[in-house]
Amino acid sequence: MSVTLLPVPHTAIIVVAAGSGSRLDAGAPKAFVGIDSHSILRHALDGVFAASPAQVVVVAPAGYEGDAETELREAAGDRADLGRVVTGGASRQESVAAGLAALWGDVRTVLVHDAARALTPPATIDAVAAAVTSEVGVIPVLPVVDTLKKVDGDAVMGGVDRSELAAAQTPQAFPRALLAEAYAAARASGVEYTDDAALFTAAGHPVRHIEGAARSFKITTPADLERARHLLASSPARTAVSAAAGDGSAPRSHAPRVGIGTDVHAFGGDGDLWLAGLSWPGEPALSGHSDGDAVAHAIVDALLGAAGLGDIGEHFGTAHPEYAGAHAEVFLARTRELLAEAGFEIGNVSAQFQSNRPRFSGRRAEAEAVLSRALGGAPVSVTATTTDGLGFPGRGEGASVTAIAAIFPRGVQA
Ligand code: CTP
Ligand code: MG
Repeated sequence: MSVTLLPVPHTAIIVVAAGSGSRLDAGAPKAFVGIDSHSILRHALDGVFAASPAQVVVVAPAGYEGDAETELREAAGDRADLGRVVTGGASRQESVAAGLAALWGDVRTVLVHDAARALTPPATIDAVAAAVTSEVGVIPVLPVVDTLKKVDGDAVMGGVDRSELAAAQTPQAFPRALLAEAYAAARASGVEYTDDAALFTAAGHPVRHIEGAARSFKITTPADLERARHLLASSPARTAVSAAAGDGSAPRSHAPRVGIGTDVHAFGGDGDLWLAGLSWPGEPALSGHSDGDAVAHAIVDALLGAAGLGDIGEHFGTAHPEYAGAHAEVFLARTRELLAEAGFEIGNVSAQFQSNRPRFSGRRAEAEAVLSRALGGAPVSVTATTTDGLGFPGRGEGASVTAIAAIFPRGVQA
């Protein structure tokens, strides 16, 4: 076994995530509100870990340190040793100060980043880090596009020259020693600054700007959260082929994918009926490779189809004798594993069983629980119908099942 030791980085990124999100008003601290299947914090950390290696300090709301740890570990992958979580304070400034206190001795450059700017491109993070010097801070900005007015009550007092203005974003990068001094001075004076650049400038140090990015907007209101959701959903789809190949250069997409699967088996198998993950003593068995569980098999095809990973025959067919007697749990757990390896997690599954028997409704909840557990907790619903005496299910010759599945790419990490 070989152990890879990462060199201790000279750059640290403090990700402030300790705010309550009063304007978003989503019933949880803003950082833990979901954009898609992942939280604001997780998206922010995916961006941070896609940038050059740095110490990463997540500043979490009191009581949410454990949740932040989980997000950090999942986003960090093999860089987990570079991350840690500290508890934030009552103001953003106090939260940054808590982050500064957790920096390693070797750190020379500090980036302070709002978790709320969840979709910030990694290139912006690298660009501010590259531009900072031992004396000069660097912030990303965007030009102001609106016409700005000075107002007094309801009166418009005059215009403001837009060309002199820029909208500040994060991450903001500073030489560590000077930023720490500036924070100590701010604490002593009791002044709250609007951002780190203002605090650094107040201590007498220069700050320069580079070009920011539209995607770095701060999620503040419900409309901002909608915007983030749309941006993620409209990213170009990450193909299953590149996902399966672990190609980190594949486009990041959080758009869901869907798949459909059908399975038909005739009655006439040996032993008991196996259906929807349950054994049905006294019911005629379905015939087929493995246990003939048409519900499980349709679900497997729906999931594999959604991920573009081939079909059940390819992964579980006669060329795989190890699955010959296997039941639903084995098939579904392996399918979930195949999807996870390709970078997908399961949204939900819905299956419909068509046959005269067995009577399904009395065991529906039990079946759904077994199937869901085998898929790692993803919701599974199973409906059943007879076909009014029509067709082979109506004549009692066999059963037909159709399933659909929705899946999501996981936060994609190179
Ligand atoms: N922040 C923090 N500690 C605080 C306040 C804010 O770490 N005491 C962080 C937020 O988590 C956010 C960033 O600073 O990532 C920018 O702040 P803002 O967007 O204002 O977030 P909130 O303060 O949470 O939102 P609101 O002002 O709507 O309550
Ligand atoms: Mg705030």
